[in-house]
Parts: sequence; C-alpha cells; structure tokens
Amino acid sequence: MNTSPTERAQAALWNGRAGRAWVDGQAMLDRMFRPFESMLADAAAARPAQAVLDVGCGTGATTHAIARRLGPPAHCVGVDISAPMIAAARLRAGQGERTDFLCGDAQTQAFAPGRFDLLVSRFGVMFFDDPVAAFANLRRAARPGAELRLIAWRSADQNLS
Ligand SMILES: C[S@@+](CC[C@H](N)C(=O)[O-])C[C@H]1O[C@@H](n2cnc3c(N)ncnc32)[C@H](O)[C@@H]1O
Repeated sequence: MNTSPTERAQAALWNGRAGRAWVDGQAMLDRMFRPFESMLADAAAARPAQAVLDVGCGTGATTHAIARRLGPPAHCVGVDISAPMIAAARLRAGQGERTDFLCGDAQTQAFAPGRFDLLVSRFGVMFFDDPVAAFANLRRAARPGAELRLIAWRSADQNLS
C-alpha cells in the first residue's frame, strides 16, 4: 500500500523513540491520564456498550479499563500503529477480560463493517495524515447509532487557560 511521508514518519516515531518513551513511562502516564480513562469508561458503562474500539490505544490502559468496567460479554479492541505499545498492551490483559489488540493504522485498518457500538480515544486521534480518510474508515467500523467519544489535545494556546 502507498503511504505518505507523514504517515511513514508517524509510524517511525511511534515504533521508535516515542513508542519506547511511552512504554517506559507507562505507569506514570497512566496515573496522570487516569481521569480521562475514567471519563471514557463511564461513557461506555452508561450506554452500556458491547463492542468498543479504542483508537490509538497505546499501551492499552483505557481499553483494559473499559473491558473491566463492562465485563463479559462486552468486547474491547485496541488499535495502534506502534508495535512496542501494542506488545505492552497485550501483556496487561486481566483474567476473564475480553480484549484484543491490533497493530495497525486506524486510517486504513480493515475493520469489519458495523462492528463497534462505541469508538473511543484518549489522545490517539491527533496524528492522522488524512483525518477525513481516517474518520471515514472509523465510520465504516461503527454500527448504526454508535457513539464516538474522543479526548484530544487542541493547540497550545487553546489548551492553556
Ligand atoms: C499520545 S499517545 C496516547 C496513547 C494512549 N491512547 C494513552 O492514552 O495512553 C498517541 C497514540 O496514538 C498512536 N497513533 C498515532 N497515529 C496512529 C494511527 N494512524 N493509527 C493508530 N494509532 C496511531 C500512537 O502510536 C500512540 O500510541
């Protein structure tokens, strides 16, 4: 498949230095971002969701938190472009938890059409080279009536108040 220079740079970054830094800092980052994880787990429980996709799941804290909160038979899938982060996410699976982790680009990953009733992301959707293509791909993976719950940084001036 043809990929753009930006896509290749993002893949290299998250499979290299940035991916290693997130795996090394996993415990600290998870503590820091736990309030955001809770917001997404609350949203999943409120539906309640049965099939959840966590976009740019990283080392999987949010995916696992939602799977624990919903319990079986709910199924949570994390997708991330970073092989080391997906490997770390797989190692954290709890007993009886229904999670799967895919190493792939959310912009192009061939999800089963209409598979998910909730799509979430904790800081994983700001890196797309082609956001329109990415969200069109995620839309295909969503069931009719599915929800999209995203937490994303904005520009530095909009994040400071
Ligand atoms: C800021 S980190 C957040 C990770 C995780 N959601 C968390 O909260 O710990 C951004 C994540 O997005 C992933 N990512 C970047 N571009 C991606 C893409 N096109 N498809 C899937 N994942 C991507 C990175 O590999 C990284 O794990």
